[in-house]
Amino acid sequence: MLRVIVLGAGAGGGFPQWNCNCCNCDLARRGRATPLTQSSLAVTTDDRNWFLLNASPDLRQQIAVTPDLHPGGGLRHSPIAGVVLTNADVDHVAGLLSLREGQRLSIYATARVHLALRANPIFGVLDPALVPRRDLRLKAPERLHGPDGEDCGLEIEAFPVPGKVALWLEDPAAKGFGSEPEDTVGLAVRARDGSGTFFYIPGCAEMTPDLADRLYDADLVFFDGTTFADDELIAAGLGTKTAARMGHMSMGGAYGSLAAFAGLAVARKVFVHVNNSNPALVAGSRERATIEAAGWELAQDGMEFRS
Ligand code: MLT
Ligand code: MN
Ligand code: ZN
Repeated sequence: MLRVIVLGAGAGGGFPQWNCNCCNCDLARRGRATPLTQSSLAVTTDDRNWFLLNASPDLRQQIAVTPDLHPGGGLRHSPIAGVVLTNADVDHVAGLLSLREGQRLSIYATARVHLALRANPIFGVLDPALVPRRDLRLKAPERLHGPDGEDCGLEIEAFPVPGKVALWLEDPAAKGFGSEPEDTVGLAVRARDGSGTFFYIPGCAEMTPDLADRLYDADLVFFDGTTFADDELIAAGLGTKTAARMGHMSMGGAYGSLAAFAGLAVARKVFVHVNNSNPALVAGSRERATIEAAGWELAQDGMEFRS
């Protein structure tokens, strides 16, 4: 059986964000909106070996509230066999630092993302002798293996999606801030026992014809739900960037995800990586009603999907 647990449904900063007093964050602090930790899923097909899809800064807390991820046997043990990264954003890699302590696990990422990690000596706390780093080649489905080569029953395909290099790696002088196709990938995940498949695309700047073809009749898609409106951070006085500038498509608008998925036949559509500024986070909002009317769900921390 394929099982997917949403460890964190929020975008970078989480909900509420530590330094944000926007009306959404205020509602969350007052218990009138549900808080979200930062962006990560966990997946298994054998209930013994779990892979994290991204490792968020909130990983320690996410493991603490997820019994499936607690040590199961021996004095030192973890069911986390590995981590798969979709980019090098802080909200997706900072949790790697919480996985030190001499535990063996695999890290899968594109060569570009591995390069960024290798260039940053702090990630050396994950001793390469214990934590093999394996390359995800684009459009090349491969089996996920634990650190000792154990087959975990999952197959994954990374494919490039329109996006942007991580904020901390942007080159202001370069075209597209120096972004390359390997900087942002989506993942197609398949249980090799035939029990299920899903897509995980927490960051995506545009629905291309290729991507629409790939997703066309998917059973389950977890998709970039960062903002509702492209200019939402600017309109709320929270920032100066559009969603597009940050490498994200908005939910609403002519080029938004609601419109882009309207012509597809995806059975279950779930927004993840939801930023604290997004009005759809508030139950009863017009934006929440709009996404629900379009057949979307908003992920919550701890949600589980089984197939
Ligand atoms: C993003 O999703 O755009 C990034 O996580 C932004 C950031 O690094 O704060
Ligand atoms: Mn992010
Ligand atoms: Zn806020």
